[in-house]
Amino acid sequence: MAEKRKWRMGMVGGGPGAFIGPVHKMAAELDGRMELVAGAFSQSGEKSRAAGEAFRIDPARAYANYNEMLAAERMRKDAIDFVVIATPNNTHFPVARAALEAGFPVMSDKPATMSYAEVEELAKIVAKSGLPYGLTHTYAGYALVREARHLCGSGQLGPIRKIVAEYLQGWLSQPIEATGQKQAAWRSDPRLNGPGGCIGDIGVHAFHLLEYVTGLHVTSMNAVLRTVVPGRKLDDDCSAMLRLDNGAEGVLMASQIATGEGNGMRLRIYGEHGSIDWRQEDPNRLRVKWGDKPEEIRHAAAGYLSADARAAARLPGGHPEGYIEAFAVLYREFADALEAWRDGNPSPMPATLPGIEAAMRGMRFVERGIESSHKRTWLDF
Ligand code: NAI
Repeated sequence: MAEKRKWRMGMVGGGPGAFIGPVHKMAAELDGRMELVAGAFSQSGEKSRAAGEAFRIDPARAYANYNEMLAAERMRKDAIDFVVIATPNNTHFPVARAALEAGFPVMSDKPATMSYAEVEELAKIVAKSGLPYGLTHTYAGYALVREARHLCGSGQLGPIRKIVAEYLQGWLSQPIEATGQKQAAWRSDPRLNGPGGCIGDIGVHAFHLLEYVTGLHVTSMNAVLRTVVPGRKLDDDCSAMLRLDNGAEGVLMASQIATGEGNGMRLRIYGEHGSIDWRQEDPNRLRVKWGDKPEEIRHAAAGYLSADARAAARLPGGHPEGYIEAFAVLYREFADALEAWRDGNPSPMPATLPGIEAAMRGMRFVERGIESSHKRTWLDF
């Protein structure tokens, strides 16, 4: 791409009624550096065309399946530059593999694959291709998550001793999969979702966030997974104890039967001198508490924040940014990765953008969580 133009994106998933596909489009396009031009939005050609029409793309570029999209786009002068994956979990790996092998960088939704064995294979494909591979752990894109990360990384909180990561939702409190509710139906089916229910759907976000913010690695875990709603085939509630590589310990709670909760994600990190408390439903405020001085509330986009946190904000303080904007921070960094890759940089991924390493950690967490719950014991990572 010699001339300055928008990066062209082809999306797999995001058909009529889908949740996250349209979010990917909004986020990718927010900063004006990318645009959706093609897609295989559904498994049905007709629904894919309907979605293409709603997204206002050229009808000839709304494909019946992803293989057709990759083959047809490779022949075009104005071909897509990268592939976005926003389908149910069972297709993430085959689509990523096909796209990378066809020479297209990939921005995938989580979890990266269905198993750790698959993500190991994917990592080899990514390495061999030399192409950017991003993973949309959305919460990493919030400005105040970047501030919390800076506070941990710069040592201001002192050595980290205790982590409490929560992700509580209530939308699966009843067996709504039996009513055909689209998002619940595939998430409750192990063939489409994979073996980890709540742990793989949202536990993995909490796990990523705690490692992302602290810069620490979990070394062992002891999890209890439960299926609370009768008849459900996968876990809908998860409690885990964690040990980290600096000696800290953590507690991770993820639940989809926490009645009344919306998207209750919260991260608390306690160091020797201070601690942070961030909530996804109030994302523009970060509470910082100190052992020897009064509590602070830091506001998104304020001039006193770290450079990393300021870089993630688009608007002056007091103008709230939220979910789409956080998602768009990841896309902005993916655009940076594409530019670095185009310019021949052998390590094009920005350090702040989750990629294949986060994908591997996440799949390890899901597999070890299931196994430790089954064996009722601590397991090393
Ligand atoms: P959804 O059920 O709302 O949408 C999935 C879409 O993919 C549907 O339009 C479906 O027709 C389409 N699809 C299924 N198989 C396909 C195939 N082979 N080819 C093309 N299209 C296909 O699901 P939702 O909630 O949007 O989740 C999708 C993915 O995004 C999941 O892996 C989920 O874990 C992830 N997700 C991530 C979030 C985040 O914050 N990063 C939030 C929500 C979901």
